[in-house]
Amino acid sequence: MTPDQLKKTIGAIPDYPKPGITFRDITPLLQDREAFAAAIDLFAERYRDSGITQIAAIEARGFIFGAALAKQIGCGVTLLRKPGKLPGATVSQSYQLEYGEDSLEMRADSLNSNDNVLIVDDLLATGGTAEAAAILIKKAKAVIVEAAFLVSLNDLPGEQKLQQQGVACYTLCR
Ligand code: PRP
Ligand code: HPA
Repeated sequence: MTPDQLKKTIGAIPDYPKPGITFRDITPLLQDREAFAAAIDLFAERYRDSGITQIAAIEARGFIFGAALAKQIGCGVTLLRKPGKLPGATVSQSYQLEYGEDSLEMRADSLNSNDNVLIVDDLLATGGTAEAAAILIKKAKAVIVEAAFLVSLNDLPGEQKLQQQGVACYTLCR
């Protein structure tokens, strides 16, 4: 299955969660076993043998793609979670939402300077979430290989925000 065929399995829900917003819905892709497998295979072709030691997977939908890809390329999974979900000492990074603020947390002992890390999430919109992920990984002095997304929304500045962090993006569907 090509990225163009994959794109056809992603839904567009008008006026969700608010009037005027078109929500890109990955749930049909997940339910289609060929499409889900193809998405993971396309990522795996790119990242196999690239020396990645950890996938930093962003809660919640990033966990799905991150975990499946980690199994395929043979690396670990580092969870970047919403606040208060991880035990032990954590590092935290806040980011802007349209209204207000949220933050991501990572266990303080998760990564170190020997790690080559791939950030994985389902979707890149404003880039605030992925930027917070990049900052957390840098705090741990690990190397960021790239950030990988199933979907990037072209009309939003996510990729530029990551570029400003020195992080390259790879996206299957725009
Ligand atoms: C969505 C999506 C990304 C983020 C992208 O997650 O899965 O993580 O928003 O938006 P941004 O680029 O503007 O930061 P959401 O926060 O809705 O959480 P969920 O995966 O737990 O539903
Ligand atoms: N779909 C899913 N998650 C999102 C979207 C979207 O269109 N925009 C921001 N987060």
